[in-house]
Amino acid sequence: MCSEPKPTILFTKGEIETTVRRLAGEISRDYRGKYPLLIGVLKGSFMFMADLIRLLDFPLEVEFIRLSSYGKDKESSGKVKVVQGLRSQIKGRDVLVIEDIVDTGLTTAFLLDYLQKKKPASLRLCSLTDKPSRRKAPVIIDYLGFTVPNKFLVGYGLDWNEKFRNLPDIGVLEDEE
Ligand code: IMP
Repeated sequence: MCSEPKPTILFTKGEIETTVRRLAGEISRDYRGKYPLLIGVLKGSFMFMADLIRLLDFPLEVEFIRLSSYGKDKESSGKVKVVQGLRSQIKGRDVLVIEDIVDTGLTTAFLLDYLQKKKPASLRLCSLTDKPSRRKAPVIIDYLGFTVPNKFLVGYGLDWNEKFRNLPDIGVLEDEE
């Protein structure tokens, strides 16, 4: 059996907790009293979403959307489509998109445009990580956890070929020959 790549830790569980707490504080300050709709982008954001909303002590609604953009490896196909859509009404809602990572930005830019067409009262983006060096489509991140280098990240919901989502830390997969 060929050997599994082994991630090198970039952010520990403790560093992630501190950052999620900071983001929850920023989001609470802006959304308390508004009943926002938080839309998590599957699958990568599920762990972040779960930790984040436990720290938000005001009424909110949770939805998930699933988009496809990546192939089986580390590169985006560039073509985005909705694989699993939304049940909640978007029109007139204060919508906050919860992303795991903005890499090229193609997926997020597509999603924000898709949601904007549904006429929300407001639309903002929270992303745990941002890889600005890879950007192809401009994206404004209103609530950002970590700016990350141009490396492939795994753990805390992020996968490589569906593996490593369960790591409590965020690690980097180095390219192997
Ligand atoms: P983008 O369209 O290139 O911004 O990529 C969007 C999606 O690709 C993210 O929501 C992730 O699911 C996946 N992705 C991008 N970079 C990484 C990474 O470093 N690790 C794991 N998944 C990634």
